[in-house]
Amino acid sequence: MTFLELAKERYSCRKFSEKPVEQEKTAKIIQAALYAPTAVNKQPFKIFEINSNDSIEKLKKATPYTFNAKEFLIVGADSANSYVRNFDNKNFAEIDASIAATHIMLEVQDLGLGTTWVGYFDEDILKSEFPQLANYNITAIFPIGYPAPDAEASPMHDKSKTREEILIQNL
Ligand SMILES: Cc1cc2nc3c(=O)[nH]c(=O)nc-3n(C[C@H](O)[C@H](O)[C@H](O)COP(=O)(O)O)c2cc1C
Repeated sequence: MTFLELAKERYSCRKFSEKPVEQEKTAKIIQAALYAPTAVNKQPFKIFEINSNDSIEKLKKATPYTFNAKEFLIVGADSANSYVRNFDNKNFAEIDASIAATHIMLEVQDLGLGTTWVGYFDEDILKSEFPQLANYNITAIFPIGYPAPDAEASPMHDKSKTREEILIQNL
């Protein structure tokens, strides 16, 4: 499969089957994050794995978007250990963490699994339930699983802007 085919095939999966995610697949997903480029190679992110019933119940207090998944990865940006641009003090932690998160999302797809990038969560509740997250800006929560047989893309999936809308050429 080409990269373009993978990118086209991906959609936000919001319905999972009962089949558990194999640990080897989770390991590959983490490896994909480790291959992500980051500013000045600071790699200022952490990945938190959640898969116990107790922890999933805690996670549900912070977001309604868990989709009955049994495996979750949370990406946190570490802005205390990231590149800061000297011209304007722009901190690259969340950009870097987003690249790692994108690698995660696409590796999930490549492994035949599904996920949705969840950005709708209460970060304060999340951190009170999981104190280990305290020093990170939470970039994404990924519920991960095998797509249910009747999983399908939402109507939003097909609403792409046109090339003309996003491309400004020959500046
Ligand atoms: C940064 C970000 C945050 C998102 N947050 C949520 C979310 O909280 N809940 C959800 O159901 N989908 C969420 N999505 C998924 C988007 O709604 C989805 O990517 C978009 O509608 C396009 O659909 P597609 O991913 O199926 O192509 C998020 C996506 C991104 C990139």
